Amino acid sequence: MPQPHLRTVVVLAAGEGKRMKSTLPKVLHPLLGRTLLGHVLSAAAPLAADRTVVVVGHGADQVRAHLTDVAPDATPVLQAEQLGTGHAVRIALEAVPDGAGTVVVINGDVPLLRPETVGALVTAHEQAGAAATVLAAEVPDPTGLGRIVRDADGRLEQIVEERDADATQRAIREINAGIYAFDAMRLRDALGKLSTDNDQGEEYLTDVFGLLRSSGEPVAVHVADDHVETLGCNDRVELATLRRLLRDRVNEAWMRTGVSLLDPATTWIDVTVALDRDAVVDQNTQLRGSTVVGAGALIGPDVTLVDTIVGPAASVVRSHAVGAEVGAGASVGPYAYLRPAARLADKAKVGTFVEVKNSEIGAGSKVPHLTYVGDATIGEQSNIGAASVFVNYDGVNKHRTVIGSHARTGADNMFVAPVEVGDGAYTAAGSVIVEDVPAGAMGVARARQRNIEGWVVKRRAGTAAAQAAERAGAVQGAPNGAGAASDSEAMHGPGETVGGPSGAGDTATE
Ligand code: UD1
Ligand code: MG
Repeated sequence: MPQPHLRTVVVLAAGEGKRMKSTLPKVLHPLLGRTLLGHVLSAAAPLAADRTVVVVGHGADQVRAHLTDVAPDATPVLQAEQLGTGHAVRIALEAVPDGAGTVVVINGDVPLLRPETVGALVTAHEQAGAAATVLAAEVPDPTGLGRIVRDADGRLEQIVEERDADATQRAIREINAGIYAFDAMRLRDALGKLSTDNDQGEEYLTDVFGLLRSSGEPVAVHVADDHVETLGCNDRVELATLRRLLRDRVNEAWMRTGVSLLDPATTWIDVTVALDRDAVVDQNTQLRGSTVVGAGALIGPDVTLVDTIVGPAASVVRSHAVGAEVGAGASVGPYAYLRPAARLADKAKVGTFVEVKNSEIGAGSKVPHLTYVGDATIGEQSNIGAASVFVNYDGVNKHRTVIGSHARTGADNMFVAPVEVGDGAYTAAGSVIVEDVPAGAMGVARARQRNIEGWVVKRRAGTAAAQAAERAGAVQGAPNGAGAASDSEAMHGPGETVGGPSGAGDTATE
């Protein structure tokens, strides 16, 4: 019985990435929704490897913790000292001693690698029965990279690192991308023969190719269609370049599926985001994490959505949302902040300078202006007056406010939770609602107004205000002075008007 053909993926991620000048290990730097390492792992995922080994070293604990999140099946293997890429692969294979088959090795810092490309490399390698196949690319500037040295017949002779190369070899623009497929047995054998006789005194994985070739084994080169996929990341300038390149790739793919991006250069969509047909994304917009945008939704300009679900035909303008849900046809902004578990039902509205956290806003309900909604449930078709605060925090605990359906709350209300406003209830402008308002009631909770007639003319005599008052025929000051109010004044207040035609709620806003 032949041994089953195993596929093993080895990702090299032990290096420090000195030039990143970061406390974060290089492979954990984020790039549009995944870390560099996460991108490499997802490019390798369709290979359906029997096992994946990640060589860790610098920041090993952080990298291990990240693997637990993104690739729990991968086995981290510690390379305590970074003695070279050949040494790293040797240690990785010691951790998986058994098995023939194919070993795919990928440098941890090539995040633009596409699954199709690594798949084609492995297929070509396995079909040719090669001992080793390297992914190569012709690049405009090969500085710092290993060169593919071919013989007169165009066959791979060896891979030479730039620092070990002579002038002729340095002129070669075909480079080693740091992505390889090996026959496991022949790789193990060659790794045992690596020397450290090079400029860095390291065991180079790339020397395996020269060794195999001199012992007559077939080695091959697979040339990538697009050299951009092979770009590595060594510093933050390169990281920014990779981010732009990936942005363009992601944006182009979405436009081809029927999403409009009005300004692709300022639209940053994580690889983990999904958009439906006819969604329109306006300029300067970031869509991150597990965000999903429904068909025909309008997002932007100037919007950041993190882990947020936007329903079909909804609109979000100049706003920031994290962990929120926006229902079909709902509208958000301009200038809204949706925090985790803000849930807007269909056709709900959260308007300008409104913050919502951990609250449900029912279908067709509106919170149009200048309001904080925290820990609340609002029913359907209700309207929350401008400048209201859902007072949810007593300094120790958070409490909920419940507003029913078809309620109309006045402007400048405080809802001191826990409190409930029933279906069809109204509240008066300026109310501090500390007690439940029954269904259909008008809740009024504010002081009566008193006007001190003539106060300005008397107390601010000679001012422009007093002169204006006099011109307007203001009543002269009351004999009992500034402190007294005329109780006989007609006071347009809620006490008198509840139930009347000019109800206290008439100062609500819509
Ligand atoms: C390597 C290749 C070079 C190729 C280039 C592509 C070698 C000797 N050279 O060079 O031919 O053109 O990649 O980007 O392989 N790593 C470890 N342990 C180590 C050393 C490195 O895990 O002891 C990891 C690094 O974290 C990195 C990868 O291996 O992810 C490549 O190492 P790096 O030092 O970046 O190699 P290069 O000099 O770029
Ligand atoms: Mg490198």
